[in-house]
Amino acid sequence: VDYINRLYDKDKTGVEINLERIVVKDLLKSRDVSFDEEKISDDRDDILRRDDIDIVVELIGGYEPSLSIILESIERGKDVVTANKAVLAKYGYEIFSKARRLRRNIGFQASVCGEMRVLDILFNIPSFKDVEAILGIVNGTSNYILSRMEDGESYYDALEEAYEKGYAERDPSLDVEGIDAAQKLSLLSSIVFGIFLDFEGISREGISRVTKSDIKYAKTFGYVIRPLAIAKRRSEGIELRVHPTLVPETHPLAAVRDENNALSIYFYGRKEPLTVIGKGAGEPAARSIVADIVDVARKRSRGLLNLPRIEYSSEKSRVMSVEEFETPYCLRFFVEDKPGTLGNIALILGNYGINISGVAQVPEDKVGDIMPLAIKVDSAGDEAIYKALKEIRRLDRVKEILPIRIYE
Ligand SMILES: NC(=O)c1ccc[n+]([C@@H]2O[C@H](COP(=O)([O-])OP(=O)(O)OC[C@H]3O[C@@H](n4cnc5c(N)ncnc54)[C@H](OP(=O)(O)O)[C@@H]3O)[C@@H](O)[C@H]2O)c1
Repeated sequence: VDYINRLYDKDKTGVEINLERIVVKDLLKSRDVSFDEEKISDDRDDILRRDDIDIVVELIGGYEPSLSIILESIERGKDVVTANKAVLAKYGYEIFSKARRLRRNIGFQASVCGEMRVLDILFNIPSFKDVEAILGIVNGTSNYILSRMEDGESYYDALEEAYEKGYAERDPSLDVEGIDAAQKLSLLSSIVFGIFLDFEGISREGISRVTKSDIKYAKTFGYVIRPLAIAKRRSEGIELRVHPTLVPETHPLAAVRDENNALSIYFYGRKEPLTVIGKGAGEPAARSIVADIVDVARKRSRGLLNLPRIEYSSEKSRVMSVEEFETPYCLRFFVEDKPGTLGNIALILGNYGINISGVAQVPEDKVGDIMPLAIKVDSAGDEAIYKALKEIRRLDRVKEILPIRIYE
């Protein structure tokens, strides 16, 4: 509403937006945006049952009542704009199928890295077979926290700051445990590979266990840690994963800091990715929502239907299980500082055919008797890595282990 009041320009778009009704939950809440008080209501039927309303903009979030509102809007002949990645990542198939059947458009660019309009970019690639992989920083809060930790702050201070700046969701686990990123990856991969996978089936690890030591050791190996969402086509199927990742310092995503989002698209036969950088929250998201309203209004006036084809994972595009993943790792341990510890760990890794390609330890990081130790290992398959770590965990001197994947 604020964006429309301050900046919307119908001379630029050729589309007149008449804001007819605003439905909220709490009518008594004070709001720092100006609007015609006559237009506010807490009854969704004030929108849904009005035949003269063409477009419904759903900005509630979560599954319900968002899902019912979206489906009922479509049934009543309205087009929909939504920024709700959660509902699309869970019920996208149902929503898009109904919209296609009833010839209604859905504008949903703001749901993933809004300002960058990455869903549009992927949608406009005229093939499911052109893209080998996408790599994204799609959760601004996680990226902000890791950037602050790179500057020396603790995880908790950085999370607190992310709250204060309004980046973090009310429930921080959505951000820091990779749930929000998995929801976005589910949408991105459905557009780029044509498979729809419930985000709950996506393998994910959050950033909450990453420490300042990990960031420091990553640097000694020539990497930075970024919260990545990855979709990659392999001969065995499609690999989908969300986790903190060591990214080479020379990669375009390594330079993306703070609350910024980014997506790198890898086309077959081309080494350098196409990378888009921008923001996904606040005014950039509002700009994207208004752009979607304009886009949907134009299509409505011309009777055009332009929806992505989203199908359930089929045999020809099978989603790989986590046991099949193969990536190099940085294995970080907290160990008792006693002679022979590194040797014992190296022996177990060697027994599982895991090759060590680097070791880092900074004596100043010792706290009491406990010392961090980072070991970089080549790809050996997750099964071998996790069996080796299970055995290492049994060593008395090993107090904590964090395996972090490396992107190469
Ligand atoms: N914030 C961002 O920068 C951003 C960026 C990209 C995508 N999104 C997505 O946009 C959506 C909204 O996010 P937000 O941050 O704006 O959330 P928010 O600040 O919590 O706003 C939610 C709005 O929905 C209204 N609402 C809640 N329950 C309702 C109900 N049962 N019936 C009618 N109205 C109801 C609330 O009314 P009251 O005002 O009365 O509480 C409030 O106005 C989410 O899907 C989010 O993922 C947000």
